[in-house]
Order: sequence, then C-alpha cells, then structure tokens
Amino acid sequence: MLPEDAARRELVERAGRTILGGAGYRRIETPAFEATELFVRTVGEATDIVRKEMYTFDDGGGRSLTLRPEGTAPVCRAYLEHGMHKLPQPVKLWYLGSFFRAEAPQRGRYRQFWQIGAEAIGSGTPETDAELIVLLAELLEEVGAHQLKLRLSSLGSPQTRAEYREELKSYLRANEERLSGDVRERIELNPLRAFDASDPGTREVMREAPVLLDRLDESDAGHFTRVRELLDDVGISYEIDPTLVRGLDYYNRTLFEFESGSLGAQSGVGGGGRYDGLIEQIGGSPTPAVGFAAGVERMLMAAGEPEAETQPIDLFVAVAIQEASREAWKLSREARRAGLRAQSELAGRSLKSQLRHADRVGARYTAIIGDEGEVTLRNMSTGEQRDVALSEVIGAIT
Ligand code: HAM
Repeated sequence: MLPEDAARRELVERAGRTILGGAGYRRIETPAFEATELFVRTVGEATDIVRKEMYTFDDGGGRSLTLRPEGTAPVCRAYLEHGMHKLPQPVKLWYLGSFFRAEAPQRGRYRQFWQIGAEAIGSGTPETDAELIVLLAELLEEVGAHQLKLRLSSLGSPQTRAEYREELKSYLRANEERLSGDVRERIELNPLRAFDASDPGTREVMREAPVLLDRLDESDAGHFTRVRELLDDVGISYEIDPTLVRGLDYYNRTLFEFESGSLGAQSGVGGGGRYDGLIEQIGGSPTPAVGFAAGVERMLMAAGEPEAETQPIDLFVAVAIQEASREAWKLSREARRAGLRAQSELAGRSLKSQLRHADRVGARYTAIIGDEGEVTLRNMSTGEQRDVALSEVIGAIT
C-alpha cells in the first residue's frame, strides 16, 4: 500500500466499522499463520488453494504452519478455542487484514492481499444469509464499487451434492461423443467443469444437463426461496446462477458472489456462503454459520481511480537563518499539540526553496523565523505578510 492509497483504505475500514459494527458485528483479528491442518481440513484437500497456493513452512519445532489463505477457518478456530459457543448466538464477527495465496500475480490478483470479511456463527436461519448479503452490498456501495452483479445459488446438502454429481456423470457419459476431449477426460474427476467449457459441442450438451438447483430437497429449496424473498424485500437484485462455484469446499446451501464488470479477468469482488459443517469438522458440535469476504484491492479497483489527494497543512515553519532552527522545531511541535497540522524544515534548504516547498505541500501559512526569534507570518494564498511575536503565531492562525 502506497501513501496515495491510504485514504481509500481508511474508507474501507471506516465502512466496516459503521456498517458491520452497526449491525452488531464485533471486530476480530486472528494470527497471520495457523496450523496447516486447519486449512487442509476445511478449505479442502482437492482445492487449488490447498494443492497449489499455500505458503507452508516448518516452524523449526516440527510443526507445519501456513500463512492464512482465507479467514473463515481461523475465525471458527478462535470461536471454539475461546468458548464463544457459550455466548448468545449467533456470534457476529468481522475482520480486516492481509491474506496470502501463492498465485501468479496479475492485475487484481496478488500473493499478499487484503480482505474485509464477516461471519455469523451459530444461526441457521435464511435471515442470517440475507443479512450478510445485504451487508456486503452496503459495504461495496459505500466504497463506491461500480458495475456490480450479484450471483446467487444454493448447493443444498453434501448428500444431495454427491447424488447430483453421480447423475451428472451418467449424463455426460451418455453424451460422451459430443463432448470435447478435455471435458471427456475429466468426467470422473471434475464433472462440474463441463459447465465452463467453451466448445460448441459441449455447450450444446450442457444446455440440457441436469442442474443441482433442481435437485434440492424440500428443506434446502425452502431455505433458498426464503433468502430470495428477503433480498426482494429490500430491493437487492441478483441473478440465479446454478453453475456458480467457489474455490472452497466448506460451503453448503446459500452461495453468493459479487462481480464487477470493471475488473476484467479477476472479476470477483467478494463472496461467501453458508458453511454449516465447518465447526464440526474442526472438533466443535454441529453449528450452522454463514459469512463473506471481499478483496480490498479489488473493491477499490472497482471503485475507479482515486481523486488526487492533497492533505493541506496549516503551518510550515521556515527558518531565515540556521540559528533559528531550534525555535522552529519547538514551534512546529507546539502547533501540533494545539491541534494544527504543522511541519518544520527538515532538509536544510535556502529560504526561497523553503517557501516553494511550503507552497507545494499546501501550507495555509508559513512562519519564517529570523534573528532573535522575530517571525514573519505569510498567508500563502494571498501572499500577505506581517510580523508577529513567536508566542502569537499559533493564536494568529487558529
Ligand atoms: P474467496 O472468494 O476465496 O473467499 O476470497 C474472497 C475475496 O478475496 C475474493 O472475492 C477476492 O476479491 C479476494 N481475493 C482472493 N484471492 C485474491 C488474490 N490472490 N488477490 C487479490 N484478491 C484476492 C474466501 O476467502 C472465504 N473465506 C469467504 C467467506 C467468508 N466465506 C464464508 N465466510
């Protein structure tokens, strides 16, 4: 993060505090690394994240640690470890921090990036899913992200998903001769991939393929309908996308992702879903939960170019002679303690360059300290100058 990005980053943090804090989410920060096992178990052994993208190292004491690639598993670990299941449920938490994935860097994709996220642990109601979607929409709106589209789906239960996978495999095998070689080879390993294929033959087959959303059992389908009704109630538009997949294995039921048309290839700004099995997977009792995370760099990219940022200062303290530098040093400190934005000369420049510099940093006033502590106070916008006593400088410009 460079200084010119700082103000916009602060905007994200402020938005988190007001929007998420306002809905009762409390901030949590977990360590930058965790036991490797935590991510392998939850994110899933077969996912790209676990297979290829984790920064894993031995800590010298025989423990395998991993720089956190995501925040949901660490937050759930903290929930269990700190007995948060004893608090009134759901426990609502939010976080803002950096995450690490060994991906090939490109625009919008970095090996260290920031996420803002929220998790509601301990509630299985569709209202909770809808609340998280609405909060993410509000965060994106507050930051000014453009061209947003919300994709929504439901994965049902792990059992429905396993049955559906078998059904899809049989369908693909029955139409094998019309599929591309690539898709045919992956029928067993990853039949869902066929939905992403671009060759005309496969696409035609996939138009008639069974979709998981049509196979949900009654309770999962009811849950999904309710989430949609709740979003309709507050005017959040979405597109049902039965082919929506996310790169983490812990999801069930509701799945969502916001995309921005202004991002190019890395269009996912933020997403999440329900993960009712995760807490149990890491040793807790069955605890339903739902959450989201959004990439801070991508949110800001989707918000467009930053405005040229100037942070004008109230007072620049210049010295006419070198001997005055101790008075200048004291005056600038006193001015800051009085609540002004103030700087003194630090580069040993000539008076002329000091004035030019004061202008460049946007100083409202420059105090030029001369012999015996005489001060000339210059109004930088009008060019007006007057002599004041050293002790009167601060009073003269506040
Ligand atoms: P995720 O979709 O893997 O979900 O990441 C969330 C967001 O982080 C993405 O939408 C994207 O904006 C950003 N992101 C991911 N990888 C990178 C990268 N290499 N460079 C820049 N930005 C990136 C999760 O991490 C889940 N933990 C979300 C969640 C919370 N699900 C439930 N609760």
